[in-house]
Amino acid sequence: METIKVARPSDGVMLITLDRPKALNALSKALLIEVASALEDAEADNAIRCVVLTGDERAFSAGADIKEMPEGGIPMWAEAGRLKAWKSIERFPKPLIAAVNGYALGGGCELILLCDIVIAGETARFGFPEVKIAAFPGDGGTQRLPRLIGKFRAMMMILTGDFIDAATAHDWGLAVEVTPAGRTVERALEIAGTIAQNSPVATQMAKAEVLMSFEKPLDESLSMERQMLLWQTEDHDEGIAAFIEKRKPRYTGR
Ligand code: CAA
Repeated sequence: METIKVARPSDGVMLITLDRPKALNALSKALLIEVASALEDAEADNAIRCVVLTGDERAFSAGADIKEMPEGGIPMWAEAGRLKAWKSIERFPKPLIAAVNGYALGGGCELILLCDIVIAGETARFGFPEVKIAAFPGDGGTQRLPRLIGKFRAMMMILTGDFIDAATAHDWGLAVEVTPAGRTVERALEIAGTIAQNSPVATQMAKAEVLMSFEKPLDESLSMERQMLLWQTEDHDEGIAAFIEKRKPRYTGR
């Protein structure tokens, strides 16, 4: 991997660090493909139960790589490898936590919108400055942002290109917690560690069900939730047995 670093800091947890510091972790095609590939590895590995995605102190990511644009031209947005990488990140079934310090802009913020939990350091700045280069957040931002923070706030961010700080992002529901900048990754890893102790089959089902609420009409998603509830898993039996026997459960993901 040339544009990301991958580590396994604790049982069940993978940490992916975007690593193009000189370009403020801009999302080159290569970086997107490497993130997608690391997530595919995480998906295939039964030992991994939660992934944390982060950047560095200066930037989570400053968005799509603007310097790749002149070369690629408009078809760059529709380039198959790039679209496939975004789709693969979007479909990652295990819990994904963003630990955000510094700039999270444009495509960098759209990447965050694909995460399940966002922890922001006090230095985090969120924004959609695409309009300033006569573009718009075309990797899901125009659709996911208003669903998350509401129409007027989304319009303000997307139409002005102005950034919001961590406290505002928290207030608007774009981050669940704000931490001192030096503790952001640590806090995300703590949460990942807690998730990793739960049944992987249950956390993945729960993630899929919550995401249905953004994608499907309520009657359809409620009926699918009911169907999922009827599935019986070995982990569920184990969870009930462990509770009754007053011991820690030993989940296998079956
Ligand atoms: N793509 C490529 N390179 C980038 C970049 C980007 N998105 N953002 C920053 N960089 C590079 C800069 O060119 C600079 O490189 P050099 O030293 O080689 O010149 C380096 O990172 C450091 O950046 P700055 O010197 O500009 O740092 P700064 O602290 O003065 O400003 C900033 C920081 C406000 C984030 C500014 O860099 C900036 O405005 N970046 C562009 C942000 C942007 O517009 N993002 C949206 C991209 S479009 C998108 O994402 C499309 C989409 O969703 C469909």
